Amino acid sequence: MQDSQSRPDAQLETWLRERHSCRAFLPRPVPRAVIERILELAQRTASWCNCQPWQVVVTEGEGTGRLREALLRRAAMPGFTPDIPFPREYRGASLARRRESGFQLYDAVGVARGDRAAYRRQELRNFALFDAPHTAIVTSDEALGEYGAIDCGGYVANFMLAAQANGVATVAQASLAMYPETLREVLGIGADRRVVCGISFGYADAAHPANRYRTRRAGLDEAVRWFAGQGEHVLERAGPGAV
Ligand SMILES: Cc1cc2nc3c(=O)[nH]c(=O)nc-3n(C[C@H](O)[C@H](O)[C@H](O)COP(=O)(O)O)c2cc1C
Repeated sequence: MQDSQSRPDAQLETWLRERHSCRAFLPRPVPRAVIERILELAQRTASWCNCQPWQVVVTEGEGTGRLREALLRRAAMPGFTPDIPFPREYRGASLARRRESGFQLYDAVGVARGDRAAYRRQELRNFALFDAPHTAIVTSDEALGEYGAIDCGGYVANFMLAAQANGVATVAQASLAMYPETLREVLGIGADRRVVCGISFGYADAAHPANRYRTRRAGLDEAVRWFAGQGEHVLERAGPGAV
C-alpha cells in the first residue's frame, strides 16, 4: 500500500480534504486574475453532450454589496419560490447527516438547541453572503431540465476545488436560489435561465468559530455496493468505514 504522499492523486486528495464550506470571510477581495483562473478551470467541467449549460454572474465590489442588500430585504419577507424545487423530505441517513452538520454549525457559533431566533439569525447570514467579497450565481438553461442542473452541480464542485487550489475559500449556497426574482432583477438574469445556486467566495476568516469544524463523510460501505454478476443478492461490501 502506497503512503498517501506518494500516490499520484496526493495533491487532489489534499484539495478535496482541505476544502470545506467557509461561513465567515475576510473583506479582502480576490484579484480578478485569480477569479478568472478559477473560472477557466471550472469551464473544463464535463456536461451532457458538451452543452455546458452553466452561466455565471460574478459579483465584486459594490455589486456584491447591492446584491447582499437586496437579498436581505427579500429574506425579511415571507415565502420563497426557487426555480428548482427544494427537497421534498429529508429522511433516513439524509436527515441524520443534515441534523449532524446543522448542529455542528450551531455548536461552533454558540447557538443553543431550540433557540429558534438564533437559528433564524444564523440562516440570515446566508443572505449577507457570510460577508464574502464575491458571489457567483450559477444558472442553467431552463430547456435542459434536470440534467442541465446536474451539469451545473459538476461545475460548482470544480469551481470550489479550483478555488481551493488557489487558496480561495468557498461556500455553495442553495439558499440564494430561494429568491430567483431578486437575482433576476438585480443581476439581469433572463427568464430562460434557472437559478441553481450561488457560490460565495473570498479569503477565509480562519479564526471565526463558524470555520472551525469539519463535516464527516460516510464510508464506502454506506455509499457503494459491488455487483460482480454472480447473482442478484451477492454483495461484497466495500471498505473501509467512515472517514
Ligand atoms: C448545492 C449545495 C448547496 C448548498 N447550500 C448551502 C446553503 O445555502 N447554506 C450553507 O450554509 N451551506 C450550503 N451548502 C454547504 C453544505 O452544507 C456543505 O457542503 C455540507 O454540509 C458539507 O460540508 P463541507 O462543504 O464543509 O464539506 C451547500 C452545498 C451544496 C453542494
